[in-house]
Amino acid sequence: MADTAAETTSYETITVRNEGAIRYFTLNRPDKLNAMSQLLSDELSAALKAADQDPQVAVMVIAGEGRAFCAGADLSDMGESPSSREIAGSINHSIAFYQQMVTLNTPMIAAVQGYALGGGCNLAISCDMVVAADNAVFGYPEVKLGMPAAGVSPPLVHQIGRKAAFELLVLCENIDAQKALEFGMINRIVAPDQLMTTVTEIAQTLAGYDHDALWLTKQLIRRCADMSLPDALELGRDIGLSAGMYK
Ligand code: COA
Repeated sequence: MADTAAETTSYETITVRNEGAIRYFTLNRPDKLNAMSQLLSDELSAALKAADQDPQVAVMVIAGEGRAFCAGADLSDMGESPSSREIAGSINHSIAFYQQMVTLNTPMIAAVQGYALGGGCNLAISCDMVVAADNAVFGYPEVKLGMPAAGVSPPLVHQIGRKAAFELLVLCENIDAQKALEFGMINRIVAPDQLMTTVTEIAQTLAGYDHDALWLTKQLIRRCADMSLPDALELGRDIGLSAGMYK
């Protein structure tokens, strides 16, 4: 078995590279601030799924090329007056993307610099850890643009609660990294030139642990977040027993 994970597919809108057991995904439309076109979300979705199924991959890192992490949904994908069917198709597409994000079992770290707006903000906070440069800007402009914040509201409410989510989703003011840290949307703030070094150090620490222990613990955290504490404790017991922890 090779010790380095491999990904051989090539993509138009993202780049994928491996460093040992760490797989890096970089959104690669810097001249459009990595706006999430349908192609980009399809390619990222396929690449994440492939990595999640690859036993050589212990940790995934998502970053953006250029001065932004991701400026949200690609506004040029939306026509002047889309039909109801087109609107439904677009909403279903983004919901399916976030549904997939919450089923991934491999730990994911987001490295955020510059803008992380709308779907871009959601992509970041859907990762298990978020490290942000001190120039990061987070926000949800959907309502301000006359669109319901459809796909992005559920993950945000789940993560930071109704009050803070309402403020972000309905007041539509962008916030800086410090406020995002206070809201519990991110884990750490670093200088921009330390962003990838810090993320890589964290990823290497995780990749240095037993991969099954890491994978099962991520799975437990993911699943127990939406359970009552008694049910979550039972799940913890089941996962521990299934891993032969109490042999
Ligand atoms: N969709 C499509 N293109 C986008 C985009 C998006 N969400 N966000 C930025 N871009 C493009 C711009 O159109 C511009 O392209 P161009 O050079 O071909 O004209 C390029 O990225 C750079 O953006 P620009 O607006 O010049 O940068 P800025 O620093 O002045 O402003 C933002 C940055 C993020 C404030 C501004 O680009 C913006 O408001 N973007 C839209 C954010 C948004 O509403 N996202 C959708 C949420 S549903």
